[in-house]
Amino acid sequence: MTKQEALINVEEKVSRFQEFHTGASTKQEALIQLMSKQRLEGKVAIVTGGASGIGAETVRLFSENGALIVAADIQDELGHQLVASIGSEKVSYRHCDVRDEKQVEETVNFALEKYGRLDIMFSNAGTVDSGSGILNLDLCEFDNIMAVNVRGVAATIKHAARAMVANKVRGSIICTASVAVATPLTCTALNMEADEIEATGCDRSNLKGVILKARHIAEAALFLASDDSVYVSGHNLVVDGGFTASKSCFPCYKFDDLGLNTTT
Ligand SMILES: NC(=O)c1ccc[n+]([C@@H]2O[C@H](COP(=O)([O-])OP(=O)(O)OC[C@H]3O[C@@H](n4cnc5c(N)ncnc54)[C@H](O)[C@@H]3O)[C@@H](O)[C@H]2O)c1
Repeated sequence: MTKQEALINVEEKVSRFQEFHTGASTKQEALIQLMSKQRLEGKVAIVTGGASGIGAETVRLFSENGALIVAADIQDELGHQLVASIGSEKVSYRHCDVRDEKQVEETVNFALEKYGRLDIMFSNAGTVDSGSGILNLDLCEFDNIMAVNVRGVAATIKHAARAMVANKVRGSIICTASVAVATPLTCTALNMEADEIEATGCDRSNLKGVILKARHIAEAALFLASDDSVYVSGHNLVVDGGFTASKSCFPCYKFDDLGLNTTT
């Protein structure tokens, strides 16, 4: 892109911003607002599984975008370290085992008492199995996964929705499903180093030239949590570089074979 094209792009962005954000009466005002826009200004979020991996990255990104956050997790030491690295005026840590509905309810109440409202629930706490396969399936492990990944998510949605409805808040409830990003969870489950997982991911992905990081998932959560996605509801946002859209249907094709450059 040339400098002139980039300037035209900015000009268009400013005009569009001015069109939708009526607070900016001049182009200059619109430009200043656009550049300083904190996408979650004034919003309060709970991030479960917020002490590590995708959750911790999302806590950082949400706080950079002006949100006040309760990071909820069972890894207390990591949670407190995260708060210390961001600042206790922006983030609080709360011990919350999502398997226990009472702890989930108390965490929501903590956010309401401390910050006065709840706008965003990022239900992200989760775990994986040891990959033993159906013949050796450990049903205790299975029960635990269901208690965290299914029951725990239902509990967070229930109590966040109750708080939002009671306070007439048009909120965002976002749940993490499965991705393939190098985090402590995947490193442990696959018994691989983060750079090995990233290299394998790069090798198999359609989208070349981008290494999948927890930040990319956090960016998707930011979009869903912000007013930019105000008319998006019940959506399954797949952040996989096009993997499920193409590889599973036509494993023999690569985008490169079709002459499509997917790196832009
Ligand atoms: N990274 C991946 O490729 C991958 C693959 C499959 C699923 N996921 C899902 O993504 C989400 C984030 O995982 P991640 O990759 O960042 O892993 P991670 O291990 O870094 O983070 C998960 C966090 O959830 C917390 N947690 C686990 N059980 C909990 C409980 N009962 N109550 C509260 N917190 C609990 C952990 O302490 C941890 O901090 C999880 O829901 C996970 O199942 C990720």
